[in-house]
Amino acid sequence: MMEPSSFQHLSVMPEEVLEWLQPRAGGMYLDGTLGAGGHARLVLEAAPGSRLIGLDRDPSALDKAREVLAPFGERVSLHHRTFDQAGAVLADLGIEALDGMLLDLGVSSHQLDTPERGFSFRHDAPLDMRMNPTVGETAADVVNQREAQELSRIFFQYGEERYARRIARRIVERRQQQPLTRTGELAELVRDAIPGGRRPSRIHPATRVFQALRIQVNQELDQVETGVARAIDLLRPGGRLVVISFHSLEDRIVKTLFREQSRGCVCPPKLPICRCNQQPKVKLLTRKGVRATPAEIEKNARSRSAVLRAICRC
Ligand SMILES: C[S@@+](CC[C@H](N)C(=O)[O-])C[C@H]1O[C@@H](n2cnc3c(N)ncnc32)[C@H](O)[C@@H]1O
Repeated sequence: MMEPSSFQHLSVMPEEVLEWLQPRAGGMYLDGTLGAGGHARLVLEAAPGSRLIGLDRDPSALDKAREVLAPFGERVSLHHRTFDQAGAVLADLGIEALDGMLLDLGVSSHQLDTPERGFSFRHDAPLDMRMNPTVGETAADVVNQREAQELSRIFFQYGEERYARRIARRIVERRQQQPLTRTGELAELVRDAIPGGRRPSRIHPATRVFQALRIQVNQELDQVETGVARAIDLLRPGGRLVVISFHSLEDRIVKTLFREQSRGCVCPPKLPICRCNQQPKVKLLTRKGVRATPAEIEKNARSRSAVLRAICRC
């Protein structure tokens, strides 16, 4: 497991990733969410002579991973891309298929703990939340420009926030005076918008709204939906895909996609013979999501919500 450093990120479920990915000597692997390169390093160490293509949408993660993976030299090739673009990267490199791919979704501890990235309500900072700070809308753009109804949908759908409408209304009232630009302002507004006795006791009252904005800003669910479906097509027969999700919305997408692709015939049961000729594309390796052990959760609180699912290409 990676040692904590100034770029702290403890890789989640390291043993389980190796157990389900089964990296083999000389194989071709892709880590679509490279982060600090912790899992990638484990794969390269476990599989002598293997090659690893690493993608991340965050340039600072790639810088760190470049350092961590430097000892593996030519075996590693890193790219500033989102994982739904993995196919284009492979085509550029002239690689036809993969022996395995890993997606460890969501934000890294480094992103959360860097105040100026604006992911956390724990630090007062600009309201940004972009994993790739070079493109796209910031969280400030979203809260200052979207209609109340749209904000309410985002908070409810991506944060499962019960007081989504109230919070959205408060935001619209506030921005009529002046735009919201800081995480601290938003966290306070959300806390004040939730009736006193109804504030969650175990999490910060702004947790759900911050999660929702982060998902919206980074189009996280679209990435999972498109990226996971495409990833399956990049595997050679027998190749494996391992996905670690951190909230139920992501996990539901992964679970549904894996189930659909593992189904054979989809003809109505009344038909005497199969007409669809649909063959299963993948075999489910983990029927139920795999969870971190209590020992890991004690060392790394982030692993508490992690769910790992794996498939093997038929
Ligand atoms: C949980 S961290 C990965 C940590 C890594 N597995 C390790 O062991 O160090 C997630 C990383 O995925 C990146 N990321 C999230 N969504 C992405 C996407 N759609 N495409 C590419 N990178 C993404 C984030 O920028 C972040 O660096």
